[in-house]
Amino acid sequence: MASAITSIIERQNDIVNSSPSPLHLPKFTTYTICNLRGGIGKTSLSFNLSYEAGNCLAVDTCPQGNLSYFYDNLYFQNNTTTVKDLILPYMLPGLGRASRVAKRVSASNAFFSTKNTYYIASTSDLYTLPSQMSTAINQAKSISGAQQVTALDSMLYSLKNEILREMAETKTEKCVIDTSPFFSGATHLAWHATDALIVPVRTDQQSINSLNLLLNTLSNPSSEFRREMPSDGHSPKIQLVVLTHCAWSTAGGARNVPNQQTKVYVEKVRDIVNRNIQHFTTDDPDNHVLLLDDFLGSGRISSALSKPISVLEAGESMRINRVRTTVNASVEKIKSELKYISSSIW
Ligand SMILES: Nc1ncnc2c1ncn2[C@@H]1O[C@H](COP(=O)(O)OP(=O)(O)O)[C@@H](O)[C@H]1O
Ligand SMILES: [Mg+2]
Repeated sequence: MASAITSIIERQNDIVNSSPSPLHLPKFTTYTICNLRGGIGKTSLSFNLSYEAGNCLAVDTCPQGNLSYFYDNLYFQNNTTTVKDLILPYMLPGLGRASRVAKRVSASNAFFSTKNTYYIASTSDLYTLPSQMSTAINQAKSISGAQQVTALDSMLYSLKNEILREMAETKTEKCVIDTSPFFSGATHLAWHATDALIVPVRTDQQSINSLNLLLNTLSNPSSEFRREMPSDGHSPKIQLVVLTHCAWSTAGGARNVPNQQTKVYVEKVRDIVNRNIQHFTTDDPDNHVLLLDDFLGSGRISSALSKPISVLEAGESMRINRVRTTVNASVEKIKSELKYISSSIW
């Protein structure tokens, strides 16, 4: 095994087999789960981390609303106040501000009955936010002097402001923000609302490309993010890259060795983290790469029942689209991995 990833793989074995030593990461309140690609695990990770965290406000900023649906299966039928109602008054003066928008998850998802978890729902209307935001930003830029700075700051920090207010109202102490696969609009605001990013990367080349795109958005002075900075120059750092859909060798005698595909992507990710370490929350690349096993049947059942992975039991089975689907024995491993991620960041 290439030596560069030995400690990452060994830690992964410790997470599952013994008591792993804690990662030495700074702890933050608010994390944005983000990578500029779909289907890589942003929403699954947001949902499960919000469950692990407890006392957490989850904010769905993806117009597809998958996270909102996890919390409330009637979400697509109901007309509720959404994250867009929180943001829009900052872009269109004259609109009244909303408050007490977050809903208690236990009211619509019984698996959260013991958890003080709240969520702010998304809406498909977020698809038009980028153009509304760009109009508002251009108007602000036509104002002169200090007022221009104040106007831009107020827009860029709109989501942050509203999240802080909702957290105070719901008495939650942690926050996760789920994002869409594109940057313009709510993701842009989420980067300003957050202390640090958690970046899921699936074991395929397109995910590596989107990790590079994300790093470029974070660092390139001409990127959409860098072009309009708030007056204090805030920029989030990356706390973790979580490599999702990992699989392990089944070769005879091989124990706890990643399969070839997973190994290649751990090496690629470790290398990218190392070369961009200034964008991470510590200066040791080994602190920032964690693996999450392919959920397999556990993921399908978790999605079908809106049930956190933590409360699935191995062997549990059901029909999904006429296919008998079972929670694999590996669910215990995935539970340990999720708990480790949660305890490392909060
Ligand atoms: N290790 C993993 N982490 C996250 N999702 C996984 C993993 N393994 C399998 N999956 C599955 O991959 C899909 C990811 O979808 P989703 O979380 O909606 O992605 P995104 O929000 O990035 O579009 C889900 O069906 C999930 O069950
Ligand atoms: Mg999603």
